[in-house]
This record gives sequence, structure tokens and C-alpha cells, in this order.
Amino acid sequence: MLIRIPAPHQPLPSEITPRDAYLNRRTALAAGLGLGLAAASPLAQAQAAPGGGKLPKLAGVRSAVAGAVVMDKPTSYADATSYNNFYEFGTDKSAPAEHAHTLKTRPWTVAIEGECAKPGRFDIEALLKLAPMEERIYRLRCVEGWSMVIPWMGYSLAELLKQAQPTSKAKYVEFTSLADKAQMPGVRSGVLDWPYVEGLRIDEAMHPLAMLVFGMYGEVLPNQNGAPLRLALPWKYGFKSAKSIVRIRFVEKEPVSSWTKAAQQEYGFYSNVNPNVPHPRWSQATERRIGEDGLFAKKRPTLMFNGYEAQVGQLYAGMDLKKNY
Ligand code: MTE
Repeated sequence: MLIRIPAPHQPLPSEITPRDAYLNRRTALAAGLGLGLAAASPLAQAQAAPGGGKLPKLAGVRSAVAGAVVMDKPTSYADATSYNNFYEFGTDKSAPAEHAHTLKTRPWTVAIEGECAKPGRFDIEALLKLAPMEERIYRLRCVEGWSMVIPWMGYSLAELLKQAQPTSKAKYVEFTSLADKAQMPGVRSGVLDWPYVEGLRIDEAMHPLAMLVFGMYGEVLPNQNGAPLRLALPWKYGFKSAKSIVRIRFVEKEPVSSWTKAAQQEYGFYSNVNPNVPHPRWSQATERRIGEDGLFAKKRPTLMFNGYEAQVGQLYAGMDLKKNY
């Protein structure tokens, strides 16, 4: 028998509306609104994973992108917003949730620069309206050996990139996060060479699964998860998905990410999820799904490209993935 021991912050089962009643009510509501969501569809399942209820709502349409909705049960909002990596706010998993309230997410602009015909600055309000907001349920696999399943709100990064009309010299795209000591206490430490920089090859960045994210669980992003906008690259280790982005630059040469600068042997440019290539300090063969860490919980086998091989495998055809880790 599976014994579940509730974590201290979780309400007792007797204190909450039974899940069936809750789901039925949501399905009835959705039907009443003409949304016609089938109760068993993954989208309905994600919508049954409620947000915190304290942040503005952000609605999304069903995504038509192949692989955009995994069937795994979404991680609870409480776990997804309290166990974070956002070193600009400290290195403990609890530090971002404790300190990120100091981040000011308005006004906010994103500079688009480099090898493109139309560089410029996009205001966050314009970015929110640039393409239809979609809900996608992605696996997120951290190189440290844990994973989550998150219902993100956003659209394909390509929607924004193509507006800038990259030139033929744009072989890579570099992403830079905000680094402001006044708002981000972790930036006063030397743990990384700030600002946080990440990069993708242009065809990876243009892949429809590469997502520009503005929200999660039907609400705008909490600061600790990278507000007001971040990336979600479900086939890569979590650190490739830069948070709180202020600059996107098209470049000719492979960008050097903050993690590669910190430890080149540990963090390669590609960082595709690969159970066959161990990290020097952590095997990547299995993973601990956050929320499944009860007494008898088994680790899950990690999937090639985090389960997105059918969609992204072609991007790496002919490449030695042990060399290009
Ligand atoms: N982006 C910035 N700017 N700073 C960071 O420290 N951490 C990365 C990534 N993006 C990080 C970042 C890592 S290691 C992971 S696993 C994911 O964000 C975690 O995202 P989450 O906290 O929303 O789960």
C-alpha cells in the first residue's frame, strides 16, 4: 500500500474540496463557457492544477504544436514556486521564493540586437500581445537530477525572433537576464559571472517547442520563476531556460553561457537531456520527480531529449552527442 505523508504546508484532505467535485465543477464551468474541454484531456488536467490565486490570470488557448502537452500529472503550484533555481536571488532552493519580491517587473523592455534587419526594443505589454497565448505542459529536467511538469503560458520563441528578421549571419541567439544588485541580492555574490547568459543555435531557437513564457498555471509568472518573461526549452537541462530576460542578440559565433564560463567540463553548449551522458558529479540516468518523494517513491528513468526526441532529434542528426554535451 502506498502511504502518503502530507508535507507540513499541505492542507489535510478533509479541509479541501474533493478532487472529483472540483474537477466536475471546472468541467461544467468550461462547458458553460463554451470551451467544451473533455474532462480527460491533458489540457483539462492542467487546468485542474490550480495556480496560487494571488497573481493576475493569464488565459491560453490549446497549443497545436506537436509535443506541447505531456500526459504526466502537473507538479503542484506550491512545489513549482518554492523549489527554484534563480541564483540572482541566492543559491538555496528556497531563496528565490523568499527574496524575489524585490524584483520590479514593470516597466520592462527586451532589447533585440545583433545580426538582424529589424533590431529594436519590445515593451512587455507588446510582447504579451505579439502572438496568441498558449498553454503547454512541459517536462522540466534539472541537471541536478530532479524534474517537474509545468503548465506554462506563452508562445513559440520563433514568433518574436522572426519579427526581427535575422540575417544569414545569425547562426546563434544569445539571451541575457537582468542583473541588478539593487533588486537581486544574489548578484552581489560572485557565484556566477553576471549577467546570466545562455545561448542556442538559431535552428534550436526557431524550433516550435522553444517557448517564450509569460505565465504558469493560468496566471502570470511569479517572480521566482522568472517574471516577467523567460524561456522554456523542454528537451534541454533547465539551466538553458534563462529567466527574466532583458536582451536577445543574434550572433555569428557560439555564445559562452554563464555556466560554461563557471565550469566548462560540466556544462556544455548543447546541454540536451541525455541519460547516456553523465554529468561529472551526477548520473543523468534517472530523476526524482518533485512531489513524488514519499517513502516508497521510485526514481523515474530519464528519457532521451527528455522525451521530446520525436520532435527535436533531427536538429542533432549526425552529431556526436557525447562530444557535444
Ligand atoms: N535563469 C537565471 N537568470 N538565473 C538562474 O539561476 N537557473 C536555471 C534556469 N534559469 C537560472 C535561470 C536553472 S539551473 C533551472 S533548473 C531553471 O531556471 C529552474 O526554473 P524554475 O525555478 O522555474 O523551476
